[in-house]
Amino acid sequence: MVKRVLELGCGRTKAPGAVGVDSNQDATAADVICDLNHGLPFRDDWFDQVRGVHVIEHLNDVMKTMSEIHRVTRPGGTIYLVTPHYTDFISWCDPTHRWHLNSFSFRYFGQIHGQRHWYTRLDLRERALHVELARLWKWLGVQWLVNHFVWFRRFWEMYLCFIVRGKQMEFTFEVVKE
Ligand SMILES: C[S@@+](CC[C@H](N)C(=O)[O-])C[C@H]1O[C@@H](n2cnc3c(N)ncnc32)[C@H](O)[C@@H]1O
Repeated sequence: MVKRVLELGCGRTKAPGAVGVDSNQDATAADVICDLNHGLPFRDDWFDQVRGVHVIEHLNDVMKTMSEIHRVTRPGGTIYLVTPHYTDFISWCDPTHRWHLNSFSFRYFGQIHGQRHWYTRLDLRERALHVELARLWKWLGVQWLVNHFVWFRRFWEMYLCFIVRGKQMEFTFEVVKE
């Protein structure tokens, strides 16, 4: 079965067969030109996967955007997001970045974090997370530890990450709907 894939803020690259959305008219891979800050012009539960590679950090409201992504993704569908870690050079270099996130920032969506449903009732399950560190730390094996042990990732976020700098984070979530 052909999967329906939506690529948000696609710029010039999108996944094969995906519907690309971007606000930039010159973004040649876009099929739909719209401002993602005004919601997604798609029906509920339409897509099997929604992707956003280096886009969420540009948008006005992370909670509103996640709620719209959740709405257009079918139950059991997936959301794939890539965003810079806040300790990366690029996170602060690009003047259009509004948000600087860490590897626990998406735990506020229906997860085991203790803060469940403080801000929203929408439900996501984190199915995969890959944290990429600056190359030196990858070579020294710190990246492996960060990705294999949640306790080490928390330790890294709390005590090490201003020296052992992150690069980017790749999240895969499963969409849960009652
Ligand atoms: C850093 S680029 C990433 C492009 C592409 N995803 C990639 O990885 O090569 C961010 C993209 O998000 C788009 N974008 C930023 N704000 C947007 C908005 N409010 N609505 C739609 N697209 C937006 C930009 O036009 C740009 O194409």
